[in-house]
Amino acid sequence: MLLGTGHRRVFPPAALLVFYGGALMELLDSLRSRHSTRLFTDEPLSDDEILKLCDAAALAPSQMNSQPWHFHVATGQSRAEVGEIMALTTQYLQEYIEVLGVEGVERAARFYEDMGRAPVIIAVSIPVFEDQAEHANALIAVGAAIENFMLAALDSGLGSCNISAPRWIVDRLTEAFQVPAGRVLASLLIVGHPDEAPLVHDRKHDAVTFLGR
Ligand SMILES: Cc1cc2nc3c(=O)[nH]c(=O)nc-3n(C[C@H](O)[C@H](O)[C@H](O)COP(=O)(O)O)c2cc1C
Repeated sequence: MLLGTGHRRVFPPAALLVFYGGALMELLDSLRSRHSTRLFTDEPLSDDEILKLCDAAALAPSQMNSQPWHFHVATGQSRAEVGEIMALTTQYLQEYIEVLGVEGVERAARFYEDMGRAPVIIAVSIPVFEDQAEHANALIAVGAAIENFMLAALDSGLGSCNISAPRWIVDRLTEAFQVPAGRVLASLLIVGHPDEAPLVHDRKHDAVTFLGR
């Protein structure tokens, strides 16, 4: 024990170090092949499969290792109830017509109607923070955890998508997911067996500035 309770250093065995270069390549390939999935087969996920993804999510970094996330998992009947609430979103989507266009709004409405048939909908909650910086740090940690979750899903042949909790129905979702007092809903995830080819979105290439050049 080098750093006190709850901390330990683990040095990888020498043989693993040799393979680190190759492992990094595989990781970058995985990052490139992760895409949001919005259509799923009806095949359910076992509790073990879901727990494995949440365990991967919990490996994410967080400020002072605070691990602010909690995963509220809706499957079966509770998923159906959450799905009914999510479907209410369709009536508000007209607000996005300028951004999404008519076709985009129709596509979004079709998606929110049944959440792409995702068998699992997960709410991620964080503690309530008075301090804005602490709130922001918790959200950053949740973002890292969600990326871990999605990459672990990819690794298991599953598809997933991070979904913003629609603001019009946040209170109803908070109740449906039984988020306890003192915590707030930070984001949503859907996961299941993909039933569509991934849509590839371009990335910007002007997001880096080296100072002094
Ligand atoms: C914080 C966050 C919120 C998102 N909310 C939604 C959403 O409400 N609905 C949706 O269909 N996709 C949502 N997405 C998925 C993004 O649209 C998607 O990640 C982006 O278009 C890039 O595509 P890719 O994930 O396939 O690479 C969200 C992603 C993030 C990170």
